[in-house]
Amino acid sequence: MSTEQGSGVTVVDHPLVQHKLTLLRRRHTATGEFRNLAREISLLMAYEVTRNLPLERVTIETPLETMEAPLLSGKKLCFVSILRAGDGLLQGMLDLVPSARVGHVGLYRDPVTREPVQYYLKLPEDIASRQVIAVDPMLATGHSAAAAVTCIKQAGASQVSFVCLLAAPEGLAVFSAAHPDVPVFTASVDRELDSHAYIRPGLGDAGDRLFGTK
Ligand code: URA
Repeated sequence: MSTEQGSGVTVVDHPLVQHKLTLLRRRHTATGEFRNLAREISLLMAYEVTRNLPLERVTIETPLETMEAPLLSGKKLCFVSILRAGDGLLQGMLDLVPSARVGHVGLYRDPVTREPVQYYLKLPEDIASRQVIAVDPMLATGHSAAAAVTCIKQAGASQVSFVCLLAAPEGLAVFSAAHPDVPVFTASVDRELDSHAYIRPGLGDAGDRLFGTK
C-alpha cells in the first residue's frame, strides 16, 4: 500500500508500516526493540520497492502436473547500505530477498567544505547488471544520499531506487534534483529539518538508536 507524492516519491502508508514507525519514533523505545522494528519495517518497504520486478513464465512440475508459473526474471538485486545507519535496514530486506548482493558506501562530511567525502566503498563487481536499492533510514539534508547514489552510478549501476524510513522535504528536494531518475520510497515525509540537520518530529539519531551508542 503506497501513495505516490509526485516527482518519484512514494510514501508507503501500509498500516503495519505506519504502526511500527510510530513505535520506532517513541523516545522510550529501547535499542533491541528499535532494531527489531527497523528490520520489520524494512522488510515491508522491500515488499513495496520490489513490487514492479519483472516476471517470466517458466514450465515447472508440481507433484500432480506440469504448469506454466511466474518466476522473477531480468536483473538481480543489490542492496547498498549507506553507513552506518543503513545497516539497520539490511536484514529486513535480506529476509525477503536472501539471494541479493550487498554493498556498502561510507561518507563523512568535510568539516570545512561541508561536502560529503567517501571513506569506504565496496560494491559487487557485477553491480552494472543489478537493480540497486540504496538504503539509509534518514533522508535529512539529502547530500550524503545523493553522493552515495552518485558513487553507485559511477560504479556502473543504471537502475537505482532509494529507501528510507523518514524524509525531510528539504532532503527530498536536494536528492531529487541530483537524481531525478531515482525513485524514493519512504514511510513518512516529516515536517522539516532543524538547524542541526535533524528531521522533525523525526526519531532522533537513527545510528545511535540502532547501535545503542548514546
Ligand atoms: N540522521 C539521523 O539519524 N537523524 C536525523 O534526524 C537526521 C539525520
